[in-house]
Amino acid sequence: MKSNRLRNGLVGFIGVAVLLALAVLLGVFRPSTVAPDVQQPLTDAQTRELLPRGRELALAGNCMGCHSLPQGPRGAGGVPIDTPFGTLYSTNITPDKTYGIGKYSREDFHRVLRDGIAPGNRNLYPGMPFVFTHITRAEDIDALYAYIMSLPSITEPNVANTGVFRLPVRPFMNFWALINFPDRQPPVREGASEQWLRGAYLVEGLGHCGACHTPRNVTMGVSFARSLEGGDVVDGLVVPDITAQTLAKRGFNTQSLSEYLSSGISAQGTAFGSMYTVTHFSTSAMQAADVDAIASYLMTGKDGQLLKPAKGPEPLPAASDTPLQRGRLSYLSACAGCHGTNGEGIPNVAPPMNGNIAVVMDSPVNLLTVILQGVPTQTFTGNQRMYAMPGFADRMSAEEVAGLASWMRAQWGGQGKAITAEQVEAIAPAK
Ligand code: HEC
Ligand code: HEC
Ligand code: HEC
Repeated sequence: MKSNRLRNGLVGFIGVAVLLALAVLLGVFRPSTVAPDVQQPLTDAQTRELLPRGRELALAGNCMGCHSLPQGPRGAGGVPIDTPFGTLYSTNITPDKTYGIGKYSREDFHRVLRDGIAPGNRNLYPGMPFVFTHITRAEDIDALYAYIMSLPSITEPNVANTGVFRLPVRPFMNFWALINFPDRQPPVREGASEQWLRGAYLVEGLGHCGACHTPRNVTMGVSFARSLEGGDVVDGLVVPDITAQTLAKRGFNTQSLSEYLSSGISAQGTAFGSMYTVTHFSTSAMQAADVDAIASYLMTGKDGQLLKPAKGPEPLPAASDTPLQRGRLSYLSACAGCHGTNGEGIPNVAPPMNGNIAVVMDSPVNLLTVILQGVPTQTFTGNQRMYAMPGFADRMSAEEVAGLASWMRAQWGGQGKAITAEQVEAIAPAK
């Protein structure tokens, strides 16, 4: 009797679980969050009026940065995103009717940006930052649609994904979305200024800063509870914490942060690696008012006040100890010519090392990676140029690099823990 009841119970339970799983797979839990009144196509007059705003928002969202190869046609896709499961390629988003999104209706476009679902119920992978673009307002999505549909069509087929992404796994993204895709809203705060609201809307939405600056959970979902606290490695670099408290500790105020975002250069260093793509293609091309709004949102503490910049770190006593003096000599012979004897930097040659983000971060990975691999020549806003940063992997032993980094961190970064040769050897060689 009892075991029968148990069996029936179990069968019933499994039945319900299977039905639920099927419902998830079929997307029952991903209803459309698209605004109700977007079925009508935009009129020509509306399109014309929306174009400038659409252009600005496309810059804030770095749509073209992610959907264009550096030397390739604009918006034609093909940019690889490496993941542990295979390589995903961004797609052609020009208005080409065969290979691009030329057949997208206004509503289709809203559905992609709000819900991450393309026409034909095709779930997108989160390489497309729809968990962020989700909060974009209907009128702004219209503006983006008007702008992107006005770009030249490029007849360029999409590149096939590799690994898991080749398999018919798109429906399974519904499970992922169930745990990782909250129905976020544009941030609001009582008494907040227009500027703060605008900055919050851009940073938490189209700007998708958290795609890199917020840690991920085990299923690669964004841990929104730890927003902008940094942590994970993206393209070989540790992405720093950019919460207000940390930015203030690093000496930023609203103005200098705004300058950094609009030029890629600051007293705390230059943008490199994947952050260079952000400053180069996105924030440096945006209108000053929007960049100021982003900076002011980022510099606002939890109590709603703008945080004041702290003074840079003082040299630690260990920096003058004999063992670390070898590191100082390496610096003077290999680096000081460009970065200055006292790490003060030389304008138009190289950024300061004193208080540089790569030097003050808890993790030494970015500092070691740059010393070993260098930074390719980059151009900055207003045609500002610097020298290229040479890589030293062939010129210094792991011990030497470890000694150099240990001294730099103690002298200019307030970091006392010595770097070991093993830590240097663990850095991947330049690609
Ligand atoms: C971080 C990189 C990244 C950014 C930024 C980005 N995209 Fe994407 N996007 C992707 C990737 C990768 C895909 C392909 C996803 C897939 O195959 O599931 C994609 C897919 C799309 C698609 C679906 C195309 C199709 O296959 O039908 C559209 C539309 C789109 N993006 C528009 C945009 C717009 C508009 C913006 C700017 C607001 C933008 N994207 C910003 C990476 C990005
Ligand atoms: C030929 C000049 C030159 C020499 C020599 C040089 N650097 Fe650089 N370094 C640069 C330039 C220029 C950049 C900025 C590159 C960019 O962002 O475009 C840079 C960037 C860096 C960065 C990244 C931080 C930032 O703000 O960009 C670190 C760390 C760094 N250098 C450390 C060193 C160390 C340590 C040495 C000596 C082993 C060294 N550099 C030698 C020119 C030089
Ligand atoms: C594609 C990944 C990526 C995205 C998206 C991204 N960042 Fe970064 N960011 C980085 C990396 C990597 C670094 C460290 C290298 C460097 O300093 O240039 C960095 C560094 C920074 C720094 C300097 C760190 C410090 O402690 O002062 C700031 C400020 C910053 N990012 C702001 C932003 C803002 C604002 C956005 C959104 C508009 C953004 N980032 C989007 C990867 C990213």
